Amino acid sequence: MISAKKPKIWYGGDYNPDQWEKEVWDEDLRMFKLAGIDVATLNVFAWAKNQPDEDTYDFGWLDEMMDKLHADGVGVCLATSTAAHPAWMARKYPDVLQVDFNGQKRKFGGRHNSCPNSPTFRKYSVRMADKLAERYKDHPALLIWHINNEYGGAGNCYCDNCEAAFREWLKARYGTLETLNRAWNTGFWGHTFHDWEDIVLPSGRSEEWAGANGRTETNFQGISLDYIRFHSDSLLDCYKLEYEAVKKHTPDIPVTTNLMGAFKKLDYHKWAKHMDVVSWDNYPRFDTPHSYTGMMHDLMRGLKDGQPFMLMEQTPSQQNWQPYNSLKRPGVMRLWSYQAVARGADTILFFQLRRSIGACEKYHGAVIEHAGHENTRVFRESAQLGAELSQLGDALLDSRVQAKAAILFDWENWWAVEMSSGPTIALKYVDEAHKFYDALYRQGIAADVVSVEADLSGYDLVIAPVMYMVKRGLADKLEQYVQSGGTLVSTFFSGIVDENDRVKTGGYPGELRKLLGIWAEEIDALLPSQRNRIIPTEGATGFKGEYECGMLCDLIHSEGAEVKAVYGEDFYRGMPALTVNQFGEGEAWYLATSPEPAFLQDWMSQLCTTLGIEPLVPNVPDGIETTLRSKDGQGYLFVLNHNADAVTVDLGYRSGVDLLTGRALSGNGVEVAGRDVWIIKLDS
Ligand code: GLA
Ligand code: ZN
Repeated sequence: MISAKKPKIWYGGDYNPDQWEKEVWDEDLRMFKLAGIDVATLNVFAWAKNQPDEDTYDFGWLDEMMDKLHADGVGVCLATSTAAHPAWMARKYPDVLQVDFNGQKRKFGGRHNSCPNSPTFRKYSVRMADKLAERYKDHPALLIWHINNEYGGAGNCYCDNCEAAFREWLKARYGTLETLNRAWNTGFWGHTFHDWEDIVLPSGRSEEWAGANGRTETNFQGISLDYIRFHSDSLLDCYKLEYEAVKKHTPDIPVTTNLMGAFKKLDYHKWAKHMDVVSWDNYPRFDTPHSYTGMMHDLMRGLKDGQPFMLMEQTPSQQNWQPYNSLKRPGVMRLWSYQAVARGADTILFFQLRRSIGACEKYHGAVIEHAGHENTRVFRESAQLGAELSQLGDALLDSRVQAKAAILFDWENWWAVEMSSGPTIALKYVDEAHKFYDALYRQGIAADVVSVEADLSGYDLVIAPVMYMVKRGLADKLEQYVQSGGTLVSTFFSGIVDENDRVKTGGYPGELRKLLGIWAEEIDALLPSQRNRIIPTEGATGFKGEYECGMLCDLIHSEGAEVKAVYGEDFYRGMPALTVNQFGEGEAWYLATSPEPAFLQDWMSQLCTTLGIEPLVPNVPDGIETTLRSKDGQGYLFVLNHNADAVTVDLGYRSGVDLLTGRALSGNGVEVAGRDVWIIKLDS
């Protein structure tokens, strides 16, 4: 449980009374009560209010608010307020200001705006965290610490302090310049370094430039990869310093910082090791596939091996920062809230509780809208959900999502895949992972999304999409997994480089070659308009005719693997497109190209049937999402209808009582209303 002080699904969110006249405070509290809100995230952007100058600290407003909330039974997720530095600090100590990709020193403005290697920022952010923890350590409202906010949310820093820190980071990683030169392959273009001081940050002034489609291009993948690692680590260091500062006073209060799903810049697997609870901000667009949001929840759950996470932010109605900020249709906020719970969230929190009146977020949805009263659709829907969550009590807390399949996800691999110069700019790592996830999702098959360091022994199926970078130890680990009976699915463009983006010579897929029983001689990149075909061989079961494929086509040779499909076009027609290799007790598949979705659905369906991985309910209709959470032997089956209209669902052999309505559910052809949700406490 996140905190024994509040044994229910927390409900509330970001609340910024520091941005309002006190006159509205009591009205806010009255409305929180009406909506069933019992957690408020305070103090996210209040640094300038808390510390109006270098020597003055004033927490009067926060003292008063913490007491008020507590008196009303509202717990506090207390932020440290360090995500935007005060203006005086920028004027007095310009080292807090970042230098951008093109070398321009920023002036005061924005947020997430501090240089992570600024001595001033580190000193004053830690001091703030320390003062807050000392002050509120015994406050009964304090539930959890929220360090900073959405780390990495603005640009990277390229200042001299960062450059000096980068050199130290490199010294720690490589020890000698000789090792570094080898790792980065600096013989290329005569970039060999003879002095650490010669190394500069890779930016628009040195090795990198802004390419097409928002990509950053680089001449040297080695230094560019290390800079991303370094920058992620620099921000993590800032987080850790604040973490330690609050833990010193409150060792028993959990600590989190709000993550952002598949956020590219930070290696969240590394971050999660330093977080007590994972929390994240979920902002799907109106047309984001539900399975994509599902995958993001699962990715966040996977950061701490399936431990329940916090939904820290979502909008009750609309965003302001997307090009077109559609309203969540009636029922959608509730549905998406339960989607988070279905996938392991133990909190439902919003940004924000009261809608701002000025600056760029005044058109961002809130529980209390500009109208200022409770007679709004959004408020009514919020209050309905609040009442339901109170009724659910602690039933679902700490229950775990069960999955027999896993998708491997690796941030460093993601960076490397998408900073590669060639073979194609069309390859998007997250999209390739999502294609597999979606194929399983549509069949009601749960998948965990886990790091390459995760324990794989509990999974019958492990999918490793585009494992381009094979880090030290990974090939051995995968071999052991398959050796002892696991089924591995891997794809094109795998096993090419090591963690420094150096090619493993001797034929792709390098270290995975033995396990997969194939080798790839060449890689063809197709234009967006070009297609090849996948033709299953005789004896390949589960497929329905031929399928289209494109983007990349590896030209592979079998070295013992059985060929399950071949290409249908071009000079490599007849060469293998899908292979499977028996290895020890298990088998390892290789898909040499990027297929149309139907291929993955048919393939995954067949594979799961063979492996005995069953869907939670049979014949899952389109738009129906199912998950299972369980604890202490009790299962809870979630059925979510993403369709606007009613659909009938077959429950197969499962039956139970819906926790939300008390209705007994069993059998086939049961109607679930449009956008409705069941949480079925299963009969044993
Ligand atoms: C982020 C931030 C919030 C707010 C919301 C708006 O998630 O953490 O402060 O800006 O976006 O969607
Ligand atoms: Zn800097």
